[in-house]
Amino acid sequence: MNILVVGGGGREHALCWVLAHDASVFCAPGNPGTGEVGTNLPVPASDAAGLLDAIRTHQIDLVVIGPEGPLADGLADQLRAAGCAVFGPSAAAARIEASKSFAKALMHEAGVPTAASRTFTREAEALGYVDAHPEPLVVKASGLAAGKGAVVCDTRREAADAVRAMFSGRFGAAGDEVVVESFLTGEELSVFALTDGERLTLLPSAQDHKRLGEGDVGPNTGGMGAYTPVRLASPALLDRVEREVLHPTLAALAAAGARYQGVLYAGLMIGPDGAPSVVEFNCRFGDPEAQVVLPVAGLDLRDHLWTIAAGETWRPPPRMEARRAAVTTVVAAAGYPGAPEKGVAIPTVPAPTDDAIVFHAGTARAADGTLRTAGGRVLCATGFGPTVAAAAETSRELAERLRFPGAQYRRDIAWREIGRAGTS
Ligand code: AMP
Ligand code: GLY
Repeated sequence: MNILVVGGGGREHALCWVLAHDASVFCAPGNPGTGEVGTNLPVPASDAAGLLDAIRTHQIDLVVIGPEGPLADGLADQLRAAGCAVFGPSAAAARIEASKSFAKALMHEAGVPTAASRTFTREAEALGYVDAHPEPLVVKASGLAAGKGAVVCDTRREAADAVRAMFSGRFGAAGDEVVVESFLTGEELSVFALTDGERLTLLPSAQDHKRLGEGDVGPNTGGMGAYTPVRLASPALLDRVEREVLHPTLAALAAAGARYQGVLYAGLMIGPDGAPSVVEFNCRFGDPEAQVVLPVAGLDLRDHLWTIAAGETWRPPPRMEARRAAVTTVVAAAGYPGAPEKGVAIPTVPAPTDDAIVFHAGTARAADGTLRTAGGRVLCATGFGPTVAAAAETSRELAERLRFPGAQYRRDIAWREIGRAGTS
């Protein structure tokens, strides 16, 4: 089977690496990491005609679209209309991520637990709402903002500043609509459902680390590290998530004429009482969660993705458990999550072993062949082990070896889980 993965970040490297075990893998545009496990094609995800050419030239059987941007722009629809088997939702279904106002309205209607919220298109009304609601508040650009469009505000004054910043165009068109919602307390959990729109199975759950700094301080990022398995994700909690969150959401999307096909990623807050609430939905695998979940999922990913993409009758396998623990530490460039420093030379990346692999995210090869930084999140140092603590140690040691000038990374990925292990 020939598979084309669209995208070029750490998630796409992980997808290519897993799929390359039993398929020939192509990646567009890819990165130096995907180029080591497959063939990179120099076509941007925004060029549907160029991708269709490549699909014909390389006799691609299955297209897997990694990032949210091309999904929201309708790439899956365009390729499907040309007869390709595509894994990933239509633009209509991808609105579950691309429009927070759409997602909130759908959840409120379907009775899916989520923070109370309102959507605004006018600054004055949003400011009035902020004034009338208790702190803390969360202010979000409705559109896509690379994981940086949510501002958690301890005070009303901060929330008002965030509202003004969003309406002043800080997030471009993503901020034309602004969602203000109440603050949820608890612990976050990333749950991934493979689905054909009706049936689903869960991949191992993961926990991300959104804040830049150790101890979960500093600005929100796209994610600085992740681990699996998560003890919090008990079978009883996951049953509840399927029943209260995933099935009603899929049914509501289907009823709205936007049947969902692909990975539905629920970003959840698990409250102190153990009840799940949706913080956000994403229309794709998490990044960096994919870099831990996919290598240990123990499923025949290729066959499931193909069956769903081809619209064949899909028999979901039983819920997946992680075969062993995995931890990834993101090594980011100086300046991230603002403007990252590009072109900085990166030390030699060690070859994968049974216990560790480095996934490339924002890297590029210079003309002289040296590896350089080319994005915010540069490399993902992934370690495996019998326990999360052992995997975390391997991941941390690997991240240290990848240090380049200005590199930023956290040494505490999986700290919650390791704390839980210590007390149980
Ligand atoms: P989002 O862009 O909606 O994924 O939000 C990014 C991050 O902001 C989440 O992963 C949470 O850490 C935090 N966040 C968003 N909404 C809330 C909320 N209602 N309550 C608490 N934290 C939130
Ligand atoms: N790691 C969070 C995301 O992929 O949105």
